[in-house]
Amino acid sequence: MRQNSKILVWDAPTRVFHWMLAFCFAGAYVTSESDRWLGVHLTLGYTMVGLVAFRLVWGLVGTRYARFSSFIRGPAAVTRYAASMIGGLSEKHVGHNPLGAVSIVLMLALTLAVVYTGWVTINGGAHLLKELHEGAAGLMLAIVVVHVAAVLLSSLMQGENLPRSMLSGMKEGRNSDGIRWSWWPLAVVIVACVLGFWFLQAQSPTPIGAGGGEGDWQQGGGKHNSKHNRQRFGGDDD
Ligand code: HEM
Ligand code: HEM
Repeated sequence: MRQNSKILVWDAPTRVFHWMLAFCFAGAYVTSESDRWLGVHLTLGYTMVGLVAFRLVWGLVGTRYARFSSFIRGPAAVTRYAASMIGGLSEKHVGHNPLGAVSIVLMLALTLAVVYTGWVTINGGAHLLKELHEGAAGLMLAIVVVHVAAVLLSSLMQGENLPRSMLSGMKEGRNSDGIRWSWWPLAVVIVACVLGFWFLQAQSPTPIGAGGGEGDWQQGGGKHNSKHNRQRFGGDDD
């Protein structure tokens, strides 16, 4: 007999990935304008790329609803879902809905674009790359805002607290639709890797990946470990 109850949908690595990505994005954004926080800005950015690398692999080999094949749909399904939302009867999906999947793909791709353009900037890239870096970060911020608004709207329309489900992993559904195991040991490994990386970055006088280029963001140059860089990462504010 099929019953509706709370079932496990999001495994622990997917949840840890989500909230760490959100934390790092917010942190990288608020630290982006100050020289004093450049080390933290870079550390959070590189953490994001590590998280996305994990997610790309997990999207291929992970649990049922974490797999890209389970939620990436064609334009017809996306349009139908959008129409159902406008009509006030949003379709219910156990995993990600087709419209949410579009924003997820965009956020993963934009993370890579933001970090790549940031990395080129810090390695002496042209001024245009710094502009592209800021542009990509701004575009991602806009998608994050839409993402959060859509999550809240879907929660209201479906009568289910979706942010809470991203915390607990549980959603309403048929018992037979749930995943069997949360993979929590893998989530512990991810958290340990991230904390280990942050610890190493905090110990290093010049953070790993801080580059040594002469880009115009550096105003006056500054090689890796130079006095200028030590000042940048050591505490001289804007
Ligand atoms: C601040 C930056 C944020 C980023 C970059 C972000 C990114 C993402 C990504 C990549 C996913 C897909 C998860 C996966 O399958 O791996 C996702 C899903 C989700 N996010 Fe966020 N998120 C952010 C903030 C938030 C916030 C503040 C909330 C809560 C209000 C939230 C709620 C959710 C929910 C509920 C899902 C699952 C959606 C569904 O049911 O299909 N996110 N988010
Ligand atoms: C490891 C990856 C990253 C690197 C190497 C990097 C590097 C940089 C550099 C060198 C600058 C110029 C700082 C200056 O003007 O002195 C910058 C600015 C900026 N970064 Fe990043 N960044 C990274 C990740 C991110 C991420 C993930 C975001 C989005 C959350 C972001 C958003 C911004 C923004 C908005 C600015 C412009 C700040 C302003 O108004 O001057 N960056 N970044």
